[in-house]
Amino acid sequence: MSPAYHGLWGHLLIVWISVLAFLFPAEAYEPLSDETLKSLPRASEDYDIHSGAILAPILQTRVPGTPGHEVVLEHFANFFQTTLPKWQIELQNSTSTTPVSKGKEVPFVNFIATRDPPGAPAGDVGRLTLVAHYDSKLEPEGFIGAIDSAAPCAVIMHAMRSIDAALDKKWAAMEAQGIDPLDERHGIQIIFLDGEEAFDHWTATDSLYGARALASNWSAEMYPAMSTFKTPLSSIELFVLLDLLGSKSPYIQSYYPTTHWAYQSLGTAEKRLRSLGQLKSSAKRDWFIDAHKDSHDVAPLGGIQDDHLPFLARGVEVLHLIDFSPFKGFPPVWHTPDDDAGHLDMPTVEDWGLVITAFAAEWMELEGYFDVSEQASRRNESPEAEAILDKKTEL
Ligand SMILES: *[C@@H]1O[C@H](CO)[C@@H](O)[C@H](O)[C@H]1NC(C)=O
Ligand SMILES: *[C@@H]1O[C@H](CO)[C@@H](O)[C@H](O)[C@H]1NC(C)=O
Ligand SMILES: [Zn+2]
Repeated sequence: MSPAYHGLWGHLLIVWISVLAFLFPAEAYEPLSDETLKSLPRASEDYDIHSGAILAPILQTRVPGTPGHEVVLEHFANFFQTTLPKWQIELQNSTSTTPVSKGKEVPFVNFIATRDPPGAPAGDVGRLTLVAHYDSKLEPEGFIGAIDSAAPCAVIMHAMRSIDAALDKKWAAMEAQGIDPLDERHGIQIIFLDGEEAFDHWTATDSLYGARALASNWSAEMYPAMSTFKTPLSSIELFVLLDLLGSKSPYIQSYYPTTHWAYQSLGTAEKRLRSLGQLKSSAKRDWFIDAHKDSHDVAPLGGIQDDHLPFLARGVEVLHLIDFSPFKGFPPVWHTPDDDAGHLDMPTVEDWGLVITAFAAEWMELEGYFDVSEQASRRNESPEAEAILDKKTEL
């Protein structure tokens, strides 16, 4: 073969590799080992509905523009400032009239916290984005919205706290090995959206106030020229929306073929955690009911109206984790006075904390960066004690 041919074949090879890279974008996802899964911390007392540091402060009415709403927003800011100081906090504000505001503008404040690899320009980082809404419904009066969506916010907070030190270790190790941490530009982000609930009756304009404002804002905000991503919206690798979680035996369907693989990864994480004896909730069936399906058989179902819609409409990849069964609908407490702290199934809420922690850790490829030793041995001691406890609570 002549040198000219070499050149040609070389070129073809490069073209072929680029085609492959285009067809199979490098999805960062690496399962955790059994040992690491067993070492992941539970939220336990921090989820105590009366005194827990994470969940209890969210369990109050938090209608946009009211004092309770401000207190909860402050709670999020305090949590990140004290527990996760390396996260960058951002508020995205907007105002809108509502059908009951008599022409007055109601303020909506989306809370965003982001952790990027050290030194990475914001426009070059793709992010796993975990989302829940934190506002509560105006009616019925005194409505708490424990599954809607206080518990999902608490689940996300616990998961981020649980992987933060591992992120530090991973990025430090990469720097120490002389690997430029900018090579891997994966970050993680949480969004607590405001104004999801309708004030009167759900319509296109009386609902999703915060999500509509943020999706519009983030598609218009431009990163500097030549950044990897054009806008904060396009830097979202996966938009994972948690809603109506915290009741027993959640029925989670898969709605989008393009993110079915991530849904299946969550299903695998749940199954593995359960078989390792790490989950406290009883399970008559798997939560991720469609995990066995092929992505071609996943049907969008006309779509449940929720915060993902303004993002989905702009091409964002969405994974919608919502407890909805085609036979029973939403959980029975949905939009009733019963959706309060006392009706949360705490083993399920805690288990969600673990499942989402595992998923985020696998997405961020954190295997090997968790402190496995003491925690794992502590957790291995307890299954018997927990089995006794479970029996007692069942009586
Ligand atoms: C997006 O929202 C921020 C904060 O509320 C604001 O400062 C900015 O001007 C908005 N950008 C666009 C393009 O609307
Ligand atoms: C957004 O609203 C919050 C809460 O009302 C306020 O503290 C903050 O200063 C506002 N931010 C901007 C950029 O207007
Ligand atoms: Zn609701």
